[in-house]
Amino acid sequence: MTSRKAVDRLEALREQLRFHAHRYYTLDDPMISDGEYDALFRELLELEAQYPELVAEDSPSHRVGGLPLPAFASVAHASPMLSLDNIFSEAELASFEDKVRRYLKTDAPLRLITEPKLDGLAVELVYRRGVLVVGSTRGDGVVGEEVTAQLKTVQSIPLRLHDAGETPLEELVVRGEVFLSKKGFLLLNQQRQEEGEALFANPRNAAAGSLRQLDPKVTARRPLDFFIYGVAAPESLPAASQEETLRRLGQMGFPINPLVTVCASLSEVEAQYRRILEMRHALDYEIDGVVIKVDDLSLQGRLGATARSPRWAVAWKFPAVQATTVIEAVEFQVGRTGVVTPVAHLKPVDVNGVMVKRATLHNQDEIARKDLRIHDTVLIQRAGDVIPEIVKVIPEMRRGQESPIIFPTTCPECGQKLAQIPGEVAVRCVNALCPAQRLQQLIYFAGKSGLDVEGLGKKNVEQLVREGLVRAIPDFFHLDAEQLARLDGWGEKSARNVLAAIEKRKTLSLAQFVAALGIRHVGEVTAGVLAEHFSDLHQLRAAGKDKLVQIEGVGEQTADSLVEYFQDPATAEMIERLQQAGLVIEAQGKSQTLLDGRVFLFTGSLHTLSREEAKHLAKTLGAQVATSMSQRVTDVVAGEKAGGKRKQAEQMGLPILSEQQFLALVAQRSG
Ligand code: IVH
Repeated sequence: MTSRKAVDRLEALREQLRFHAHRYYTLDDPMISDGEYDALFRELLELEAQYPELVAEDSPSHRVGGLPLPAFASVAHASPMLSLDNIFSEAELASFEDKVRRYLKTDAPLRLITEPKLDGLAVELVYRRGVLVVGSTRGDGVVGEEVTAQLKTVQSIPLRLHDAGETPLEELVVRGEVFLSKKGFLLLNQQRQEEGEALFANPRNAAAGSLRQLDPKVTARRPLDFFIYGVAAPESLPAASQEETLRRLGQMGFPINPLVTVCASLSEVEAQYRRILEMRHALDYEIDGVVIKVDDLSLQGRLGATARSPRWAVAWKFPAVQATTVIEAVEFQVGRTGVVTPVAHLKPVDVNGVMVKRATLHNQDEIARKDLRIHDTVLIQRAGDVIPEIVKVIPEMRRGQESPIIFPTTCPECGQKLAQIPGEVAVRCVNALCPAQRLQQLIYFAGKSGLDVEGLGKKNVEQLVREGLVRAIPDFFHLDAEQLARLDGWGEKSARNVLAAIEKRKTLSLAQFVAALGIRHVGEVTAGVLAEHFSDLHQLRAAGKDKLVQIEGVGEQTADSLVEYFQDPATAEMIERLQQAGLVIEAQGKSQTLLDGRVFLFTGSLHTLSREEAKHLAKTLGAQVATSMSQRVTDVVAGEKAGGKRKQAEQMGLPILSEQQFLALVAQRSG
């Protein structure tokens, strides 16, 4: 390339990278895949290496991220939060090791430590004398956003460190990755789809979007998780190696990823990479590679870092799981709550071992934003390893035969006019008798989100409905062994098994029952909150909107939806029939270990609960209750007119919960 051409290309690359970095880091809304971004970035690095005189001061290669949102307070990091250089092959791994050796001027074998590269977002946590005082996002690497309150809602982040007999360090600054499980991501998107909200593209964006909520209560309802991977300043936690650092952090109560492995040679690193690559689909969280670090901390110190990344570590990225194919048709599916979802039928294509034939197009806005048309060639990827998604259209492949995707105006199942609910992107069939909605409700009730009856998966429920054996929920409890046994593909044994499984589910908690009904806006979490507030179904049904909206975690929409549902005479009839069939809804039975290891101190006057009820609730969930302030106390619940104890707790840096927050905590941890 001539130097003139290189100047142009570099400029184009920098501009593209700045644009996409902003979409990714600041807006949580990337337009290109990580693989494409990495490729652009590598091209930039290579060109800059070739033409060092053309490296601009403001090149993205000098940067480590995006800008903090102005709405959050800024936190200066203890030391810059750097990036990692990427490698993609055995050869590049060998050259990494080579470079390290040359830098250290040594031929001695290197101990390397491998860790999965978690695909979430990096955070920094500051603990003073063992208590979490500040938490922040990476931001631009130098200054991040203060999200302490939000991070405190992440259950696996310790609010106070175990002392293990030692005096706590004056200050400890640690770093790790906050992420959302694949399951949590799917549930969250499902919920958002039903509520007509924009969907998150992948678990990482969902995690970032959840953490960067100005209202920490919203964060608290998202099942975020955390693994730690290091300290900001090695001096603050004396140790000889990364392995020892992690072990000590583990003893303090931080979650350490179980796949971390020390390797004595490059072939061990390669074997570990392949092992983790193999198992990635089986993990419940996303990883996009393996991080390889020089284990010895004194060597790490000697190696140091460039402006962008440490010299003692690299990320060996997994190959991108993308492919191109053609949209052959678009089908419109009607969901449980009537939302109409466009689904693309694709020319079948193998994406890393899985045949992909369909992909959800989410909603009308998504189709417009991506400018998708029937017969378009598209780039697809398996996001979350589970659901395939369309990344973008490839306009160069258009031949003029492409036709627009036209949204129906009437329900494809029942023919009634579809409605666009104001404020929602979704289009909905509002016919309560729509057979498609009915079917989805029945599938939901019997399935994983509902009663989870073994043998009553989607296919079988469809069959029961088709054969006319089940029309409404109570019919599940009146099934007859002989009728079942006669169905296609069934026999006496499977009939008996299913009936036994149904029988087992006849006793259930209020939370389970409410969740299984599939009421709009009422998922598992809300059902749990409701079950906390109402001792039985009768009370819940009788509650008016004014009472419901007072409950933390229940908004206007949810309250309206509940009132509408329970006022419907069809609901009353259904509940009556269920009770006649012998369904028993038990008072809340909770796990005994949810608050294990925590010591609560209650102070001030409470409103919803009496002091005794609150203590009892904490104890039944496995917590201990203290009567006076001491080092043992991990959480303080302060009601009205809380005085001296509250002050003491503030001084000690303990988390202080309001009564509502305490209720939300126990609700969120139940079920
Ligand atoms: S160590 C100096 N270890 O990858 C860099 N990072 O590209 C220190 N990440 O911002 C990072 N898993 O968010 C490290 N086991 C791991 C990691 C990890 C994921 C992320 C982290 C960092 C990014 C760097």
